[in-house]
Amino acid sequence: MINSFKPRCFLAVLFYTLGFVYGSMGKADSFRRKVSLELNPGLKPSSTTPPGVDLLHARAVGDNDTLHFLFCTVGAPGVLLVHTNSTQSSVTVNWPVFLSRNASGSLRVEPEDSVQYSSVLVFTRLLEYDDLNNTADPQTNESIFLESYNLQDFSWSDMNSTLNLTLNTVKICGRNKSYSFSNGSLCLQFSAFESEGREEAWPSLPHTANTSQLHVWLEGVMPRANQSRFVLELQTVNRAGFQTKIDVHRFIDDEYTPSIFQVSEWQSSPANSTSFVGGFSQWKPVAYRKKTPVLEDATPCKNSPPTSLDRRPPSALVSAYFTHNPIIHGINISFSVAGDPFYSSTHFLSWTLLMGMGTPPSDFFSPLVMAIMAIGLGTPLVLILVGGVYVCIRKKDPSSYEPIN
Ligand SMILES: *[C@@H]1O[C@H](CO)[C@@H](O)[C@H](O)[C@H]1NC(C)=O
Ligand SMILES: *[C@@H]1O[C@H](CO)[C@@H](O)[C@H](O)[C@H]1NC(C)=O
Ligand SMILES: *[C@@H]1O[C@H](CO)[C@@H](O)[C@H](O)[C@H]1NC(C)=O
Ligand SMILES: *[C@@H]1O[C@H](CO)[C@@H](O)[C@H](O)[C@H]1NC(C)=O
Ligand SMILES: *[C@@H]1O[C@H](CO)[C@@H](O)[C@H](O)[C@H]1NC(C)=O
Ligand SMILES: *[C@@H]1O[C@H](CO)[C@@H](O)[C@H](O)[C@H]1NC(C)=O
Ligand SMILES: *[C@@H]1O[C@H](CO)[C@@H](O)[C@H](O)[C@H]1NC(C)=O
Ligand SMILES: *[C@@H]1O[C@H](CO)[C@@H](O)[C@H](O)[C@H]1NC(C)=O
Ligand SMILES: *[C@@H]1O[C@H](CO)[C@@H](O)[C@H](O)[C@H]1NC(C)=O
Ligand SMILES: *[C@@H]1O[C@H](CO)[C@@H](O)[C@H](O)[C@H]1NC(C)=O
Ligand SMILES: *[C@@H]1O[C@H](CO)[C@@H](O)[C@H](O)[C@H]1NC(C)=O
Ligand SMILES: *[C@@H]1O[C@H](CO)[C@@H](O)[C@H](O)[C@H]1NC(C)=O
Repeated sequence: MINSFKPRCFLAVLFYTLGFVYGSMGKADSFRRKVSLELNPGLKPSSTTPPGVDLLHARAVGDNDTLHFLFCTVGAPGVLLVHTNSTQSSVTVNWPVFLSRNASGSLRVEPEDSVQYSSVLVFTRLLEYDDLNNTADPQTNESIFLESYNLQDFSWSDMNSTLNLTLNTVKICGRNKSYSFSNGSLCLQFSAFESEGREEAWPSLPHTANTSQLHVWLEGVMPRANQSRFVLELQTVNRAGFQTKIDVHRFIDDEYTPSIFQVSEWQSSPANSTSFVGGFSQWKPVAYRKKTPVLEDATPCKNSPPTSLDRRPPSALVSAYFTHNPIIHGINISFSVAGDPFYSSTHFLSWTLLMGMGTPPSDFFSPLVMAIMAIGLGTPLVLILVGGVYVCIRKKDPSSYEPIN
């Protein structure tokens, strides 16, 4: 009996230890949502939207809640996120009003009392400045900002030609009819996700079923100055009583995004509650100067602190959905650092942002780091175990201490 107990005891301890180590290192999230994409919900088949005016509805249904993402090019491009505690909630659009000058109240998520959280992220402006002293600091370049590109004045491509219902993605490209954009455009790719994962292309942000991703790139645009650099202005709209802040988290592993050891999170939460997390935008502070980048094509980006704004961003989503006085915050994302090549070196710049609800996904240790840690932690552990079991065998082995009687 004692002899058969020994290996079992050893294996149990070993499996328990390994289970504990892996359990605490990689918490696998099996949470899934059923995602379906619909273009221009509720629009009669006989009617069409004007060219370049589209509303994509991504419906992500969980066990007992639904996330609605609405990606829209009526006005400046933006995404409305609505979280409801029902699996039956739906989006209704009053199209004639939605497309009119005053879209107020024309977009609703029903039933209204199922709505737990809602916010809009709008890409409002593309700013360009002449970085004469090569400081990449737009603050010191106040005087040499060129006239900004207002994204609500851009004409955007139709979503129906790029909608991919297999990958749950859509791509739009926009341009201003000026000379600078004659061969170039500003593009956005929206992706919705059914489960946890990460894209292979850098920055390979980890995503979950509670997030969607916006990949933004500026390609082939003619810079208006010899040493042009760009800044992107973003604005968020939340219900009254919300506040926003940007947190930076650092980590020790850059395997998924080479040379980047931090992530920025712009979170919105109710001013008087610490437990409820609202929504977030998350990005790694890096942009790329080539479409298929190598490490040398990475360039840092910086964000300005969020400022409170009075005017609603020019997106139909905002005027149509937020009928009461919402609160508005804005940030600028400026690309590059002093000494890095100017936009004209490649005529390309890309950046990626994740937006979602709840707790932002965090970059967990990669398999390589986990293996190193397992060896580092595991070797002494195995030695202790082997030593312990050896002592245990020596003590319990009946032959080693026969009763003396
Ligand atoms: C969601 O539904 C599951 C069972 O279907 C239940 O266990 C869980 O508590 C529910 N969650 C919420 C937040 O109601
Ligand atoms: C827009 O329409 C709503 C009602 O439909 C009205 O209350 C509001 O004053 C209008 N806003 C503007 C700017 O005309
Ligand atoms: C959803 O939330 C509302 C409050 O926002 C609550 O009144 C309602 O009972 C909730 N419904 C479910 C199914 O949990
Ligand atoms: C560039 O540097 C010069 C000298 O250091 C300074 O006088 C000038 O104001 C700087 N210009 C800008 C736009 O920062
Ligand atoms: C393009 O943008 C520039 C800079 O904002 C502006 O001056 C120009 O009027 C715009 N052109 C068109 C056709 O929208
Ligand atoms: C997309 O919609 C436009 C009208 O809005 C239509 O002219 C075009 O043919 C459609 N394209 C595809 C690929 O369905
Ligand atoms: C969607 O993307 C997949 C993978 O790139 C591709 O095989 C498929 O043809 C695309 N579908 C459409 C409708 O473009
Ligand atoms: C756009 O491309 C055409 C043909 O390649 C070229 O002739 C023209 O100069 C380009 N325009 C700009 C602004 O680069
Ligand atoms: C996503 O949202 C659901 C429902 O609120 C929640 O149960 C789940 O834990 C969330 N997943 C992550 C990774 O935040
Ligand atoms: C760019 O530099 C060249 C000479 O270095 C100068 O002739 C030209 O005017 C400059 N262009 C702009 C837009 O500043
Ligand atoms: C939090 O603030 C909002 C508006 O500022 C208010 O309506 C709500 O009652 C407050 N909640 C608590 C728990 O104080
Ligand atoms: C972004 O930068 C421009 C130029 O400095 C400035 O006018 C604008 O107010 C900034 N926007 C935000 C939201 O900080």
